[in-house]
Amino acid sequence: MYNEWNLDSIDLTKEPPQEEPARQCYFMAKCREWVQDFAHRNKRIPTASIQTFGCQMNARDSEKLAGILEQIGFLLQENENADFVLYNTCTVRDNANQRVYGRLGYVHSLKKQNPAMLIALCGCMMQEESVIEKLRQSYRFVDIVFGTHNIYKLAELLHLRLTCCRMVVDIWPEGKNAVETLPVERKYSYKSGVNIMYGCNNFCSYCIVPYVRGREKSREPEEIVSEIEGLVKDGVIEVMLLGQNVNSYGRNLKSPLSFAELLRRVEAIEGLQRIRFMTSHPKDLSDELIQVMKESKKICRHLHLPLQSGSSRILKIMNRRYDKEQYLALAKKIRDEIPNLSLTTDIIVGFPGETEEDFEETLDVVRQVRFDGAFTFLYSKRTGTPAAAMENQIPKETAQKRFDRLLALVQQISREMDGRDTGQVMEALVEGTDSQHEGMVTGRLSNNIMVHFPGSAEWIGRIVPVRLLESRGFYYMGRMEEQ
Ligand code: 5AD
Ligand code: SF4
Repeated sequence: MYNEWNLDSIDLTKEPPQEEPARQCYFMAKCREWVQDFAHRNKRIPTASIQTFGCQMNARDSEKLAGILEQIGFLLQENENADFVLYNTCTVRDNANQRVYGRLGYVHSLKKQNPAMLIALCGCMMQEESVIEKLRQSYRFVDIVFGTHNIYKLAELLHLRLTCCRMVVDIWPEGKNAVETLPVERKYSYKSGVNIMYGCNNFCSYCIVPYVRGREKSREPEEIVSEIEGLVKDGVIEVMLLGQNVNSYGRNLKSPLSFAELLRRVEAIEGLQRIRFMTSHPKDLSDELIQVMKESKKICRHLHLPLQSGSSRILKIMNRRYDKEQYLALAKKIRDEIPNLSLTTDIIVGFPGETEEDFEETLDVVRQVRFDGAFTFLYSKRTGTPAAAMENQIPKETAQKRFDRLLALVQQISREMDGRDTGQVMEALVEGTDSQHEGMVTGRLSNNIMVHFPGSAEWIGRIVPVRLLESRGFYYMGRMEEQ
């Protein structure tokens, strides 16, 4: 999109260059020759499909992968019945892994009908050694496997598969210098994720992310600002700054810089209208950040602040480095300073050793904070994490019963909270037409709640004032106001 590439000028008779991104451009051009040859032989352009699992980081990585495939000349499509299928995987909970194995079974049946089909796997799940072993033994039909640190190498790996090896496996234990300047095919024209940092240093005892995404590494602020300026030139009005723990942004830079300071710089970008970010760790959320949010005209009124557990005892074993009282005080401070802000969270149920009393503490925090939304998860044992080795794992039925109770409570509260602006006029970014109802569009409010209202597809990507007429639990029905 905003990166222009001229693959025609590359001399493919020469050896590939060593430096990046020239090397990847060379391989994109090589793969493009293959695509052109395929098109000539089959009288059609080869198709490619990217299936994304997991979080916003993966969604952003998939846009980068799509950018590369598009440059190579593939026709991108949604469904997996394609010539090249790529799964960008997640491994945060075991059910994410199981879903990938399930899909591999399905895609194998497609490959039997189309033996020339190429299947690739990448992302977090591939950083687990046991997964690679299993693939090598029982999933020999997979063509390319790579991890989280080398997604920019897709063209080179594809070329390798096309010219020699049967199963190309390239996993790096740590990130070197990520190549950020390759083409990107964005899913939305008007909004985009922007990586501000990679990896995580927190080692919460249940979490596999630090093992599969590596150590925390911040990008230089100038690089981030210039990427966003480029996006704005290309029509983007909303960015989501992405990191596992954005509140610790900038600590390991040559000239350290706080996340709040980065936000100030992003705020100054002309033409950019909305700023979001994900995810905040409560232990690192500074007063400076609250002030910047409060004073900002662009930072959205939404903060995702994972609680994980309301029990100080469990939080300690989780290695979260805050306790119940500190979380409650922080939530109160944020609500007092920015009253119209929507506060959402993540909660894990059934962590090893969690007692009924511990769980009651979680319910207590939920009742006190009154989250506008909460993602609730059953604890999932991740091999290699400290929690996986703890002896007092909770029986599935006990955890499930607690989960159901928690879900009922968070839903009841967020239904009440999400309707609190009924009657007000708020700005909504129109994100699409409403597939269920003709003549309706769907917009996102600054506080991340959706509103459905009569409108036309031409409004997509515009911010419009909407009166919130009626709350339907987790979304509103509204009407556009005269501008
Ligand atoms: N089991 C259940 N949930 C987990 N999360 C991370 N690791 C696990 C696990 N092992 C949840 C946390 C985190 C969110 C992205 O996923 O709540 O905030
Ligand atoms: Fe996992 Fe904790 Fe890092 Fe979040 S902060 S990615 S939960 S280790």
